[in-house]
Amino acid sequence: MTDFDARKANPATIAAQALGWIDEQTRAVAPPLHVSSTFIRDEDNLYRSGRSYARADNPTYDQPEAVLAALENGVAAAVFSSGMAAATSVFLSLKPGDHVVAPKAMYWLLRGWLLTFARRWGLEVDLVDMTDLAALKAATHPGRTKLVWAETPANPQWDITDLAAAAEIAHSCGARLGVDSTAATPVFTRPLNLGADIVMHSATKYLNGHSDLVAGALVTRADDEQWRTIKDLRVQLGGVPGSFEAWLLLRGMRTLFPRVRAAARNAATLAERFKSHPDVGQVLYAGLKEFPGHAIAARQMNGGFGGMLSIRVRGGEGAAIATAARVQLWKRATSLGGVESLLEHRASVEGPDTPCPRDLLRLSAGIEDANDLYADLDQALRHAHSK
Ligand SMILES: Cc1ncc(COP(=O)(O)O)c(C=O)c1O
Repeated sequence: MTDFDARKANPATIAAQALGWIDEQTRAVAPPLHVSSTFIRDEDNLYRSGRSYARADNPTYDQPEAVLAALENGVAAAVFSSGMAAATSVFLSLKPGDHVVAPKAMYWLLRGWLLTFARRWGLEVDLVDMTDLAALKAATHPGRTKLVWAETPANPQWDITDLAAAAEIAHSCGARLGVDSTAATPVFTRPLNLGADIVMHSATKYLNGHSDLVAGALVTRADDEQWRTIKDLRVQLGGVPGSFEAWLLLRGMRTLFPRVRAAARNAATLAERFKSHPDVGQVLYAGLKEFPGHAIAARQMNGGFGGMLSIRVRGGEGAAIATAARVQLWKRATSLGGVESLLEHRASVEGPDTPCPRDLLRLSAGIEDANDLYADLDQALRHAHSK
């Protein structure tokens, strides 16, 4: 199906050519979109095609899953209907009674699910500060802890977890390391190369990159019993993306590298410039030398620090919300990782119990001109502070 050896190609080449697959039947360069929900059974009652029903065997998943596995250096990947469907499948592949450790700073909805549904279902859940490796070690219990979950850079303050060290701690107690790598993307971090066992993405974000679908993905280091349980769960719970979403995701991934690199350049420029802005108290971005996790990020992130940053607005919550109200170019919307820049008052999204500072605006840098992005947020900050 392909003329080039993907194992020898660089990730940017793998993404741009989507592994170079050609549709054998038509010789089409762009992949076909299969919409069939069901497949013909052979006369002798077998399914030699290997496909019977699209909840389990959708051919439109094959290429995006192969591309993702190659980009993350895993043995297999699975696409899901959302990032939440992907992440919760990892936890549900464990058994009631198992102990898991997750970060205090992480995507808020998954944290909420762990503290409610997952606990009710029987998982023992501890949340720790993942930037504190001694705290992580102390929270793990040999033989009982089955999964350590990390997110790096982590929502919404972009804390950095040392993945190689976290993997060592997880493995030393017999647990696996799962990593939400949504913000880092395979452009900047390949967690499996650092010792992680499973990588999760909200493919809604950078992998697709155009804010026009909801999807998730997992990539595994080993095709083992846990992976088979996860694949079974996808069929049983039905957390499958539609064919069109899987096809769009593949289309989006072809421009992953130039998009994400451009967004990261913009984020770095904005972080430097807002550092000295009179109305900004603090800029949170792993690329800044003074950021607490910078040294670890510089080691484990290859070629950039991602497109996500946050600013803490002087004057508190009121000033932050007033700033958000005033932007014209930035889109005042939740989510991240699209080509257009998004901004949100994060505490308003996460609700009253959030650990997110109330003066924080979360910024997803897009690929527009950085000067335009700076000028728009600058005028919004100044207007909010002139009252
Ligand atoms: C870091 C991170 N993980 C997971 C998710 C959940 O993904 P989805 O919205 O695709 O279910 C999100 C979504 O915002 C996210 O930002």
